[in-house]
Amino acid sequence: MTTPRIGIIIGSTREGRFADTPAKWLIDIANRRGDAQFELVDLRDYPMPFFEETRSPAMVPPANPAALAWGRKMAELDGYIFLTAEYNHSVTAVLKNALDYAYVEFNRKPASFLGYGGVGGARAVEQLRLILAELQVASLKFNVHINAHEFMGILMQGNTLADYPYLETAAGLMLDDLVWWANTMRAGRRAAPAEPVDHTTIARAAGAAA
Ligand SMILES: Cc1cc2nc3c(=O)[nH]c(=O)nc-3n(C[C@H](O)[C@H](O)[C@H](O)COP(=O)(O)O)c2cc1C
Repeated sequence: MTTPRIGIIIGSTREGRFADTPAKWLIDIANRRGDAQFELVDLRDYPMPFFEETRSPAMVPPANPAALAWGRKMAELDGYIFLTAEYNHSVTAVLKNALDYAYVEFNRKPASFLGYGGVGGARAVEQLRLILAELQVASLKFNVHINAHEFMGILMQGNTLADYPYLETAAGLMLDDLVWWANTMRAGRRAAPAEPVDHTTIARAAGAAA
């Protein structure tokens, strides 16, 4: 059986973003493993407008070509690691917008997180979990948080993430766990490829009951 495919999604697109630093660090660590195929997924490559579809992607696929490409990429993957900054105690708008543009592509897959900021992006990660619950994504316990100490050490003192070896330990735990879930949920989807419960199914069931 092939190893699962895991996408590391870069959740900031702004010029001069910090996101590139943890993205490169994490993909290098991940690529030293042989138990999954890891790839960076950069939201800059999917320039979606602020959501303007006529219906939810839970009901019909989006018309926007970048959103369609984004959905196809999410469908290819068996698990996700969301790299998230914290903007005003939440996820970046560009990441929330991207999540709004797909639905079934995410269903019944696991996600882990790498957060960064004053409190390691923890508030953004917790908000992200709530959003992902609606997309039927299983959000996992073990994550990486780059806190003010490391964040400022890198920005102000020229340190690198390698100067904080406990972060690599955290990344290892996260990847071990995520790969287990990605394998397990992929096997589950293949064994029982039942139509995921989405809004269409609910509407149909409600119609049948009426
Ligand atoms: C609009 C905005 C809001 C921010 N709000 C927070 C915040 O609530 N908490 C925090 O820890 N950092 C906050 N920051 C600082 C970011 O953590 C910092 O700018 C970081 O580099 C953003 O990630 P990026 O460079 O990959 O976009 C904010 C930055 C911006 C631009």
